[in-house]
Amino acid sequence: MSKEKTKQQFFCESCGAQSLRWEGRCGACGAWNSIKEFRPARSVPGTHPRGFSHPVVPQLLSEVQQNAAQRMVGMGSELNRVLGGGLTPGSVALVAGDPGIGKSTLLMETLAGFSQSWPVLYVSGEESLEQLRQRADRLGVSGERFPVLMENRLEAVIQAVEVAQPEVLVVDSIQTMASESSPSAAGTVSQVRECAGRLIHLAKTRNMAVFLVGHVTKDGQIAGPRVLEHMVDTVLYFEGERGHDYRILRAVKNRFGPSNEIGVFEMCQSGLREVTNPSELFLSERIRGATGSVVFPGIEGTRPVLVEIQSLVAPSVFPQPRRNTLGWDPNRLAMLTAVLEKRLGLGFFNHDIFLNVAGGFRITEPAADLAVAASLFGSLKNLSLGSGLVVVGEVGLGGEVRAVSHVATRLREAAKLGFDRAILPEKCMKTIADVPKMELAAVSSVEEMIQKLP
Ligand code: TYD
Ligand code: MG
Repeated sequence: MSKEKTKQQFFCESCGAQSLRWEGRCGACGAWNSIKEFRPARSVPGTHPRGFSHPVVPQLLSEVQQNAAQRMVGMGSELNRVLGGGLTPGSVALVAGDPGIGKSTLLMETLAGFSQSWPVLYVSGEESLEQLRQRADRLGVSGERFPVLMENRLEAVIQAVEVAQPEVLVVDSIQTMASESSPSAAGTVSQVRECAGRLIHLAKTRNMAVFLVGHVTKDGQIAGPRVLEHMVDTVLYFEGERGHDYRILRAVKNRFGPSNEIGVFEMCQSGLREVTNPSELFLSERIRGATGSVVFPGIEGTRPVLVEIQSLVAPSVFPQPRRNTLGWDPNRLAMLTAVLEKRLGLGFFNHDIFLNVAGGFRITEPAADLAVAASLFGSLKNLSLGSGLVVVGEVGLGGEVRAVSHVATRLREAAKLGFDRAILPEKCMKTIADVPKMELAAVSSVEEMIQKLP
């Protein structure tokens, strides 16, 4: 009995932290009622060998055979780039996103591309075969080399893999799979961990690439355990704003390529269309020369993306003025307004501030600080900053402008799209050898930046 008890484990559903006993609140992340019991599965023949038939001998790293060159390059350059130059055999990728964002669409198109050159298998635990056929018709996927299976039982999926011998497998979604070896219901922490673990094992032993679809819960974490993120090789988030047609596939973890790389798609009537020049898309609805509008040359992964930052600063009638941000960290906005008030004596304290990254894009780089500061200043003073200007730089608490990475790449992209003036950190001037035809204004503080505005 006591032996049985020690086997119980408890995990937090939201952060994946382990705890010794059930608690109402997770000690690691503070989430309430998120600790769930996890019963380790009974060992399944073939996966947990009790005894070892071969001696266990470590190998010298230099003698390990490399076959990294074999990448499976499917259709579509966006996904290939996000994966780090094609799909790696034996790798497991988690594709996570909100329900209805287009994960099944993306994976059906992707798999149809791979099916031209490799055997594939699409397992759906959520949709009937007719529904899959309907989507295929809509996407123009002929389906001749596209085996599909509607199945929730993990053991049946494994059997189907043994028979069909695919080299690329899609499991849509991992939350609908259940293994017989675990007594809990599909979608629970223990089932998701167990099923993912078994599929990863299968991928590694068969050298088969696997895409797992994972739904995201309201608070932005993959339902069930975030633990899944640690288990897989690649984590891709499929994101998009409601009311916008474009979607972004973002690699937040990648063992085979750069992380933070993005692919941009547009959801059309007949599926996802690749957007090869996202800057044009994000700037397409810009009103040139509007007050409070500034273009920021961003970098996502290895790729430059120009986005417009808009702000509206208006006198407030509330004792506590409103601060609304979309696509930008509210804490960072609070820091920037404090710096501008302290260093430049600007009065934001009695103004409401609405800050938008246009098009619903999300910026996480601190390199956008200076552009946000310019936008706030422009709106407060009712200044048009011109339509040919880009602004880049990180702002410190002392009002100093700090260096940012990849300045040359950012400016080259801006020049390509017709921008002719840039405000950038002084310290970055050394790093740009081949400056495109642009007027450059180097600044070392926010005060200086204000002086350099038109
Ligand atoms: P889906 O791939 O089913 O989303 P998920 O698997 O992430 O839940 O996509 C659902 C949405 O995409 C649905 O609202 C309809 C839309 N859609 C299109 O606009 N065009 C298309 O060609 C397809 C297949 C779907
Ligand atoms: Mg789906």
